[in-house]
Amino acid sequence: MIVKSDKDLLGLTRIGQIVGNTIQEMIAAVKPGITTGELDEIGARALMRHHARSAPILVYKYPGVTCISINDEAAHGIPGDRVVQPGDLVNIDVSAELDGYFADSGASVPVPPVTPASLALLETTRAALDAALDVVRAGEPLSVIGKAVEGIARKGGYRIIRELGGHGVGRGLHEPPRNVPNFYTTRAKERMADGLVLTIEPFLTPGKGKIFTAKDGWTLKTTDGAPAAQFEHTLIITPKRPVLVTKVV
Ligand code: CO
Ligand code: CO
Repeated sequence: MIVKSDKDLLGLTRIGQIVGNTIQEMIAAVKPGITTGELDEIGARALMRHHARSAPILVYKYPGVTCISINDEAAHGIPGDRVVQPGDLVNIDVSAELDGYFADSGASVPVPPVTPASLALLETTRAALDAALDVVRAGEPLSVIGKAVEGIARKGGYRIIRELGGHGVGRGLHEPPRNVPNFYTTRAKERMADGLVLTIEPFLTPGKGKIFTAKDGWTLKTTDGAPAAQFEHTLIITPKRPVLVTKVV
């Protein structure tokens, strides 16, 4: 969507902050011994408190309120009986709707003891998102995002999971632009309009960067078993720095 009124801005900010706070609440509960189902329950209660609805359930009939993906699971991990272990890399992705507005955000967190390898992967993935946020401006092509992400990933020695990317969001969970590549391609030539709402969500891995859909029909896993990390924000494009609607302060 393109933000055209104060009502749009307010609606997006409201759901963005709910999504951001829900992730923070879930992250605070990540520890060895907790199940992904219990983490999801914390997310469900947080959304319910604000009368927000899980977007994956609303839009895709997804079998969980949030997506929780561990280690070699890159995305769309289904919450359930899986017990979080010491040393795990846990990704929490929350998207939700309130009053017809949608926001989507994600973060990966390490479970102690944290290895230098997982710390480096997390820091580089976060740096890749930050680098993209530094260059998005109204009038620039979408390809500036992939270019920025690719630069950071390459310098850190990581691969980008090219099948996964950002997307338009706002009045639905996935809207045009349908795919915001995390790698440089001249095909991403659409210029970002002032007020455009989209997600930026780089996925990095020390492995080959290929994924497949697991037997459950949802979970996307790396083919080589390498871990993956993701950070995602929903943002509004402006002539200056974007407005991060899912960032909580
Ligand atoms: Co997401
Ligand atoms: Co997304």
